[in-house]
Amino acid sequence: MMLDMPNRDQSGEVRPRDIYGIDDEFPTPPELPGRIVIAPRADELIDKLAMELVLHAETCVREFGDFHLALSGGSTPEPLYRRLMYDPDFRKLPWRRTHLWIVDERCVPLDDERSNYRMIRETIVEHADIPREQVHPMSAEDPRADLAYEKELRETLGWRERGQDRLDYVLLGMGVDGHTASLFPRTEPLRERERLVRLNFAEDAEPHERITMTFPMINTARFIAVLVTGEKKAPTLERVAAGDATEEELPICGVRPREGQLVWYLDGAACGETPRSDGTAT
Ligand code: 6PG
Repeated sequence: MMLDMPNRDQSGEVRPRDIYGIDDEFPTPPELPGRIVIAPRADELIDKLAMELVLHAETCVREFGDFHLALSGGSTPEPLYRRLMYDPDFRKLPWRRTHLWIVDERCVPLDDERSNYRMIRETIVEHADIPREQVHPMSAEDPRADLAYEKELRETLGWRERGQDRLDYVLLGMGVDGHTASLFPRTEPLRERERLVRLNFAEDAEPHERITMTFPMINTARFIAVLVTGEKKAPTLERVAAGDATEEELPICGVRPREGQLVWYLDGAACGETPRSDGTAT
């Protein structure tokens, strides 16, 4: 069973759920702003996300000639990245026409096991026919890496026509503390209104030194996907849904696309379901 639940439109208006024929037995997902896609198990959810990602990439290549994709690190998206490579249904993603950007990075060497790029390189770059000049790692060891990456983004996207000079797809995750990208609670880059990339310091995360796209960069994207799985994240999603947390408290609340779409991809556990022994949820 896979449910695709637009429960609010971009104006934030809540739409009636019952017209979408939602199975009564499925737990009610949190009321989040944007469209919500849920599946009982993480692998089914990944299927749905991958399908939509491929469609989106194909549409962009058809319309604009290329596709600008920004990926996050962390552990949640790793199975998705592997799936994109080995599942024949998703191999058709037009990598040759794709520019691959990194949403955020830990300030460690690119071959360090904590590097987001290392994981993305090992799961995708080494297995896709993406031209190397279209792969854009953040040189996170360089003390001016934020300025360099911003320049690279502006120059590369600047080659696209006006109105297309933005990222086409940004994949985000969410930490238990509500951080997204490397925008952590109560850190100054949350308030950034001009710069597209900033260095940050995460008191409670390892490694502390980070580099991250900012809200001005993320929120202009054509499509923002937030992938959240696992029971540990359920209470945080509930807090986001309650609607009274600020982005200083829960940075994920600062994800508000200016013109694009926001879609949450949630598995049953993230919606607060108790997993059964067969891997499905009650
Ligand atoms: C990072 C990420 C970060 C991540 C969340 C969730 O570098 O850590 O890009 O924003 O998406 O921390 O991480 P998990 O998927 O590991 O829970």
